[in-house]
Amino acid sequence: MNKQKIYTTFSFFKGAAALSALCVLALLLMESLGYPGFLLPGLALISLGFVVLGFRIVQLIYKLQLDRVHDTNQVESMQWIYQQFQPKVAFPPMRVIAGSPDFFKVIVEHCIQLQPKVIVEAGSGVSSVVISEWLRSVNSEARHYALDHLEKYARETARKVENLNSEVLFAPLKSYSLNGSDWKWYDISGLANVEDIDLLIIDGPPEDIQKEARFPALPLLLEKLSDKAVIILDDTNRPDEQATIQKWKAAYNLKEQYLFTEKGTTILYR
Ligand SMILES: C[S@@+](CC[C@H](N)C(=O)[O-])C[C@H]1O[C@@H](n2cnc3c(N)ncnc32)[C@H](O)[C@@H]1O
Repeated sequence: MNKQKIYTTFSFFKGAAALSALCVLALLLMESLGYPGFLLPGLALISLGFVVLGFRIVQLIYKLQLDRVHDTNQVESMQWIYQQFQPKVAFPPMRVIAGSPDFFKVIVEHCIQLQPKVIVEAGSGVSSVVISEWLRSVNSEARHYALDHLEKYARETARKVENLNSEVLFAPLKSYSLNGSDWKWYDISGLANVEDIDLLIIDGPPEDIQKEARFPALPLLLEKLSDKAVIILDDTNRPDEQATIQKWKAAYNLKEQYLFTEKGTTILYR
C-alpha cells in the first residue's frame, strides 16, 4: 500500500464527510416537513459507514508504518551484504516477485556460518546471483544448483551467474504422487548425482501453481540432505507456507525459527 493510496483514502474521507453532512441536512428537512421515521435509521447508517471507513484508514496507516520498517530493513540488509563481499555483476531487480534483500541477508549469513559444500535452490533468481557471487568472493569450491521451472527465467538467471560452481537448471514442473495426492514440482532429474545438500533454499515454485505449492520440496529432497542441513523457506507470512511447515515438522521432526523479514522467512533444521 503506497502513500498515494492513503492520500486517496483521506480525500475519500473528506468527500464522505461532506456527503454525510448533506444527508443529515436532508434527513432533518424531511423530519421538519412531516416525514418522520427516517432520521434515526439514516444517522445510524451514516455512523456505521464512518466506523468502517475509520477502520480502513487505521489499517492503511498500520500497513504504511510496517512498509517503512521493511524499507529500512532492505537498505540495511543490502549494506550488510556489500560489507561481506564485493559482487562483480550487478544484481537483478529485487523485491515484488523476486526475493527481498533481508531474505538474501539470511542466506548469506547461513552461507558464512555453515560453509555449505552443496547448496540447492528451488526457484532461481536474484538469490542465485547473490549466492554465486558470495561463493566466488570466498573462492569456495562448494557446488550450487538453482532450479527454475520457466526456461525464460532460468536463462535470465544463468546469464548473471558467472561462477562455474553455480548451475541454473531448467527443471519444468512434473507430476508426482506423494502421500496419496498428486503434486506438481520441479523435475529433479538434474539433481540425480547431487547428495549431502547442506543448504536448501525454497523460494519456488510460485503459489499459483497449486495449493501449498512448496510442500513437495521435502518429500522429494529429504533423502539428499546432509545431517547438518539447514532449510530456508521464504514467503512464510502466507497461510500455505505456514501449513506446509506444520506438515513438514510433523513428518520429519524438524525445528523451526521464524525470522521477521518482508515476506517472512523460516529456518528449519533437525
Ligand atoms: C519467487 S520467484 C524466485 C525468486 C528467487 N529466489 C529470487 O531471489 O529472485 C519464483 C519463480 O518466479 C519466476 N519469476 C521470476 N521473476 C519473475 C517475473 N518477473 N515474473 C513472473 N515470474 C517470475 C521464476 O520462475 C522463479 O523461479
